[in-house]
Order: sequence, then structure tokens, then C-alpha cells
Amino acid sequence: MEIKKIFKNNKKWIDEQLAIDANYFKNLGKGQNPDMLYIGCSDSRVTTKEMMGLDTGDVFVHRNIANMVSSNDLNVMSVIHYAVDTLKVKHIVVCGHYACGGVKAAMEFEDTGALNPWLKNIKNVIKNHQKELNAIENKKEKYNRLVELNVQEQYLNLIKTDVVQKAVKNRGLKIHSWVFDIHTGKLIDLKIKDKTI
Ligand code: CO
Repeated sequence: MEIKKIFKNNKKWIDEQLAIDANYFKNLGKGQNPDMLYIGCSDSRVTTKEMMGLDTGDVFVHRNIANMVSSNDLNVMSVIHYAVDTLKVKHIVVCGHYACGGVKAAMEFEDTGALNPWLKNIKNVIKNHQKELNAIENKKEKYNRLVELNVQEQYLNLIKTDVVQKAVKNRGLKIHSWVFDIHTGKLIDLKIKDKTI
């Protein structure tokens, strides 16, 4: 990766945007009003804008290893709080992806050093769904299913959050659970519903 090239690209992008709309950056500077909070994995192959065909300013983003929503993670909890309470987003998406390195490391019980406490959350997902996962013999299928179950668990963690529950009840905030299939580029809606809210 050439760092010099990045600055050249940046200049090109500015020129292109201004050619379409002379007030583009002026308007961008006025503030943000995104409709959606996206919580996804940090994986470099998972994009947000591109895979959803959205524009700059459309989506508020939080990414971490294996798209986790942990109540003891001040970072993700602050993002959720700000997005729901201040930005008043209408949708929150938890998006996992197949071939997730974080999920794989947890599944194979790799020693990941400093990452061990973080991946412990996924190991808990394995524990919670041990029976279903043990019944899957094909390793790839098991891995894919764990990616989906992890999204499901993070979805449940999300809707247990006070600020989210209130917004779901009071103003119809919608929560979505998706998986991005890196092998095909397809976005899959897991359509997980929770009956408690
Ligand atoms: Co990942």
C-alpha cells in the first residue's frame, strides 16, 4: 500500500465530489443525520457503504473483532447510546460475516494472547449452543452456523440494552440481524425475532 497514493486518491475524490455538487463538503460539515447504526466486524473485506449501496452520512458505524455487543464494552455501549438517544437512528443492524477470523479462533480454541478475553464472549456462544453445533459434522457448516449464532447472541445482547428497549417500545426502532457472505458478496437477513420485546 502506497501512502502517497492515498493522498492523491483523496484529492481526486474531492474534485469528483465537487464536480457533482459544489456544496458537497459544505453540506457535509453541517452535521450528520444517519438513519442506521451498523455494528459489524473489523474485517477488511467487509465494507459498509459499498455492500449496502449507501452514501456518506447514511450510516453510523461501529466495528470490532467478530461484531460483538458486550454490555461491559464501554465503546460499543457508548456508540449505541449516542446513536439511539442523540442521533435517533431508525434501524440498528448487527452484521456478522462468514469466514470470520475471530469466530474461527474461538471455535478452534486457538491461543490468541491478548485477544483471549475478547474471544471468550464467542466461546460462551459455543457453550450456549453446544448441542446444535455438536450435531453438525461438516466443519465448514459448523463454522458458518457459529457465525450466525454469534449474530443471534449479539442481537439478543443489543435488545437487552435499556436504551434500545425504550426506543423499540416508544418510537419503533427496528433491530436487524444480518450475515455478509464474503464468498458471494450477498447480504443475508437472518430474520431473528425476539418475542420478549
Ligand atoms: Co470477522
